[in-house]
Formats: sequence, C-alpha cells, structure tokens
Amino acid sequence: MTDTDEGLLKPGIEKYAGSHTSPEMPVLAKLSRATHLRSHQPQMLSGHLQGVFLQMISHMIQPGAILEIGTFTGYSAICLAQGLKPGGKLFTIDCNPEMEDFAAPYFEEAGLADKISMLIGDAGGIIENLEGPFDIVFIDADKENYLKYFELVMPKVAPGGYILVDNTLWYGKVLEPDAGSDRETAGIVNFNRFVQSLPGVENILLPLRDGIMIIRKKPEFS
Ligand SMILES: C[S@@+](CC[C@H](N)C(=O)[O-])C[C@H]1O[C@@H](n2cnc3c(N)ncnc32)[C@H](O)[C@@H]1O
Repeated sequence: MTDTDEGLLKPGIEKYAGSHTSPEMPVLAKLSRATHLRSHQPQMLSGHLQGVFLQMISHMIQPGAILEIGTFTGYSAICLAQGLKPGGKLFTIDCNPEMEDFAAPYFEEAGLADKISMLIGDAGGIIENLEGPFDIVFIDADKENYLKYFELVMPKVAPGGYILVDNTLWYGKVLEPDAGSDRETAGIVNFNRFVQSLPGVENILLPLRDGIMIIRKKPEFS
C-alpha cells in the first residue's frame, strides 16, 4: 500500500499517475531495488513519481547550485542533478556515514560523480558553513528540525530561488486534532504554519505523494 492509498487520494490514482509518467531511469530503478533489499526504511526514498517531478522542476529552473538536506541512498539527488547547468553542483547532506558508500556507486553510474558532493554530518552545523547562493534547496531530513533548516537556508537561497520541502502532509497526520502531540508532526505543522505567514515568499503545498511544499523566495524581499 502506498502513502496515497492510505487516504490522501483515491486508491489506484498514484499507480495510474505513475503509468502515465516517463519511466524511471535504469540507474534509479537499480538504486530503488538495492534500497528495498538493503535498507530498513526503503519508504524514505522519493520513488518514481516524485523523482520525475523533482527532475522536471530542476530542468525548468536549470540551477547552478542545489542543496539537498537528507541524502539517504541518493535517489532524489540523482533526480535533482539532472537539470544542473553545465558546471553546476549539487551538495547533499546526511548524518549517516553509511549512506556515502551506498550512494557513491550510483552517482558514478549516473555520470554525476563530479557534480554531486556528499557532506556527512549534522545538517545544522554543515549548512552554517555553506556559502550559497542556491537556486534550489530540497529539505527532506528530520521533520522536527524543518523550521530550523528553513531559517538557516533562507539567507543562502538566490533571489527568486526555490525551496522544496518533502512530507509536508505527513501521512495526513497534519489534519488530526492532536497533530501537535508527537515531535515530528508538530515540526511539520509548525513549519507549514510559519511558511504560510511569511510575506517574503510564494508557496504551494502540492498534494503529491506525502506532500511537497514549494516555496519561492520573492526577489524584492531578498
Ligand atoms: C527521508 S530520508 C531522505 C530521502 C532522500 N531525499 C530521497 O528522496 O531518496 C532522510 C535522511 O535524512 C537523514 N537525516 C536525519 N536527520 C539528519 C540530520 N540531523 N542531519 C543530516 N541528515 C539527517 C537520515 O539519515 C536520512 O537518510
């Protein structure tokens, strides 16, 4: 059962959407299989539909620099890197050092080894030492720190740049009356509320998979 089948959309819709979406790149299909075989939490991977979406967004923006918070096995990094300008670079952060060995062969196979730099450690500390400006930031790590990551990256986002934030519907838990009672749900709910109150951005919470918040930093507020 997918996240979607659990109630956000009609059962079968995500499968139908996937069958009318460009096929998964062979390297990503291989990475997805390996993640399902070797990881305890394969559901953390973006997957086919969201992956093609990230790829499309990246092609539209043609970023020179991307920052990803939460690499896991490298699926979304490979998708986002597809639209990089010649000479462009994607930095991806994960606190789990095992992910570096996992992801590296797939970055290589995707022809992206020289375009992707993986940084290992706690995202908060690493972001503080990164310069920017970033044209796209993808936040997909520990949910309770979403707001902290947003505030850290916002000054490093290029004027008119984008922040994409995964899991902003959190399996529908954002709608529950006791939504603030666990730290992860509270993190997402507070984050969504904060973004909605900001004058300096345009935002849309897209109900794709588990919810992707797309935020554009208005150039006049930079
Ligand atoms: C949902 S997974 C990322 C999935 C990946 N973006 C994809 O779509 O394939 C979240 C990742 O965030 C990492 N993470 C969690 N807390 C972190 C922190 N404080 N600093 C850096 N990485 C963290 C985890 O180790 C995990 O690999």
